[in-house]
Amino acid sequence: MNFASDGLGLDPAEYAAVLSQVVADGDFQPDNYSQGGIIRALETRFARLLGKDDAIYLPTGTLANHLAVRKLAGNDRRVLVQAESHLYNDSGDCAQTLSGLNLVPLADGASTPSVDEVERWLRRSDGGRVETRVGVIAIESPVRRRHHEMVDFDTLARISRLARERGIRLHLDGARLFNLPLHSGHGLHAYGALFDTVYVSLWKHFNAGSGAILAGDAGFIEGLFHQRRMFGGALPHAWPSAAVALRFVDGYLEDYAKSWQVADRLVALLQDDGRFSFETLPNGTSRFFMTATGVDPAALRERLAAQDVVLSHGHPDTGRFAMEVNATLLRLPAEVLAARFIEAANGAAR
Ligand SMILES: Cc1ncc(COP(=O)(O)O)c(C=O)c1O
Repeated sequence: MNFASDGLGLDPAEYAAVLSQVVADGDFQPDNYSQGGIIRALETRFARLLGKDDAIYLPTGTLANHLAVRKLAGNDRRVLVQAESHLYNDSGDCAQTLSGLNLVPLADGASTPSVDEVERWLRRSDGGRVETRVGVIAIESPVRRRHHEMVDFDTLARISRLARERGIRLHLDGARLFNLPLHSGHGLHAYGALFDTVYVSLWKHFNAGSGAILAGDAGFIEGLFHQRRMFGGALPHAWPSAAVALRFVDGYLEDYAKSWQVADRLVALLQDDGRFSFETLPNGTSRFFMTATGVDPAALRERLAAQDVVLSHGHPDTGRFAMEVNATLLRLPAEVLAARFIEAANGAAR
């Protein structure tokens, strides 16, 4: 049971076992330089799931976001992004440096950009001394730097409408998109419909070693493999990522919902113990917080690890742990899991 991971956190032996199972299942076709075979099967499967015409495999999400905004922008080089997004903070200014785009950060310290702020930037861009149109609005949801908080759906819909009225294209960094339907009540197609392109990670929820899917309309995806190759992203053998990811796509939404049922039951059982308290975020998705009082956080973590329960590092003073919900929670009944927490807390009392 792993409370520190987006997915199952497969170790090398488990990973190798999944791969050999997939290959042994028969009719397995590898790709050639990230084209054809199981890569094509992966692309068409995700295109359908996201309600798009087509999709392309890319080796990383960083490249997916970059190629998306690069192509969507065309000649309109200004791109509105969230200040807290991966594209703005964690991609080494790739879009600025390698593609000459001007990324404008919105909603500093928040997850959801306001429609007012978007409108202000569109007005400012229209009213400059030199015409500088906004070409793309890129949104990340859930927002990794904000504890996977989701962007408000109605605001997304309003921003999408506003952009489309003005011919501005829209990209969704949905690295963890598949966790949103449970919390927002809006399905994958509903999200896909608000954006021209959607990126989903293959390694966060679907346990591949790496990889990303970028979905869009047929005209957008056509020929994009040339840019993938230009950026050194055409892996000669990409099939291992696709093989593992495809294994875990079916049933993901149901398993995630069931995992939250286990988490809710675990929280209820531990609340009865009195030493554990819990918090959730107002627009939270996969993360909740647990605080253990009267317990040494490092010792608690160590004792749980000895019982196959992995936690992230707790805060040394407050004893607060960030807890991720994923399908590893389905491996044990909540009652057994709670007993392990209580036993570990007894041994870690201070
Ligand atoms: C929200 C988000 N977008 C994009 C990425 C980039 O993905 P990759 O590591 O596959 O380049 C990440 C990865 O951590 C992410 O969390």
